[in-house]
Amino acid sequence: MMRKDTVVFNIFRFHPGNDKKPYFQKFEIPLTRKDLTVLEGLYYIQQRLDDSLAFRSSCRAAICGSCAMHINGKYRLACNTLISKLKSSIVTIRPLAHMPILKDLFVDMKPFWEKYEQIKPYLMSGKPLPASGEQAQSPEERAKVDILIDCILCACCHSSCPVTASHEKYLGPMAFLNIDRFVSDTRDAAREERLALVNDEHGVWRCHTIFNCQEVCPKDLDPSGSIAHLKMEIVKNKI
Ligand code: F3S
Repeated sequence: MMRKDTVVFNIFRFHPGNDKKPYFQKFEIPLTRKDLTVLEGLYYIQQRLDDSLAFRSSCRAAICGSCAMHINGKYRLACNTLISKLKSSIVTIRPLAHMPILKDLFVDMKPFWEKYEQIKPYLMSGKPLPASGEQAQSPEERAKVDILIDCILCACCHSSCPVTASHEKYLGPMAFLNIDRFVSDTRDAAREERLALVNDEHGVWRCHTIFNCQEVCPKDLDPSGSIAHLKMEIVKNKI
């Protein structure tokens, strides 16, 4: 029988080179503190029970986006998910979806980064930098991109979107939010080019307004709001 001061991690395991098919493996972990995170639990397993467990992490502070995974039914960051908040004696963990599994919870994020690259995620001001080296904005102009620049590229939205699953070329919520970040930036001069990129069969019109992307975002961003904004701008600008 399971003790109250422990929790069971039920983890997706798969090593494509060695395993015929994926399986789940259970590990019992001592709950040494009330604020123990899922990531700390994974490190406990890796350091004391099974050093072959593969997962990705880096900053441990919900800034780098590396430790996104599917935890008890929702895509979240393992580093800021408290085991106690899950209110369950079993923590079931799966890897991010719609990307090839390299090992266990460690996926190949190439398809995700390809979409990011496609949107040209950098300012295109169309003119040389002023001598000061800075392109000034008023506080009001800056406020328009305030929330949009907080995306940490964790891929929770990408993995949670069923349209991303069914259409390989669909740009998806991360790409739309980040395009909106530049479309809303008064220093950017590539507005028409950016809007044209999302105004096709793989763009914003394919979104089914499912809102999973918004629900799972660990930074409380609004990709579906960005999609609505881009649609409006496409129509307004007669793209
Ligand atoms: Fe997908 Fe979000 Fe649209 S979950 S369908 S991109 S509202």
